[in-house]
Amino acid sequence: MGEMAQKISKVDKDELLKALQSAYAEEWLAYYQYWVGAKVAEGIEKSKVVEEFYEHANEELKHADWLAERIIQLGETPLLDPKLWNEHAKCKYDAPSNPDTKVLVSQNLMAERCAIGRYQQICEMCQGKDYITFNISRKILKEEIEHEQEMEDFEADFEHYL
Ligand SMILES: [Fe+2]
Ligand SMILES: [Fe+2]
Repeated sequence: MGEMAQKISKVDKDELLKALQSAYAEEWLAYYQYWVGAKVAEGIEKSKVVEEFYEHANEELKHADWLAERIIQLGETPLLDPKLWNEHAKCKYDAPSNPDTKVLVSQNLMAERCAIGRYQQICEMCQGKDYITFNISRKILKEEIEHEQEMEDFEADFEHYL
């Protein structure tokens, strides 16, 4: 981190990097959960679910990219070993062992709610203290909120099939 960048930062750097590394691990797991879920999905509204899952997967990967860049800027290396992802992630990976679209959507909905909590936490940590990380977290938070809504919309659609 540059000299002036360090001087203006008022946030606890260790605490922030810990949260960013966790978020980074969570994004990769979220990416994979959507991506592999799209591959195996079966059942009601399959084509719409698959399309939405791929779209979300791409957005989770983009979030991982933004986080990696910020982690590097703050002077750390993003977790290099995927084996560490589970250890650092608070939002756990839920393997889509049941391919039913209803089950997949409810698993991903839980993951989205966890992600919303994560970015709310990082925004609160950075507000007024680290504008760059705050902006990244706010941008991600906005998209996680949209993801949650889209999963809830699927659940509402599924009701019509009962
Ligand atoms: Fe994300
Ligand atoms: Fe998401």
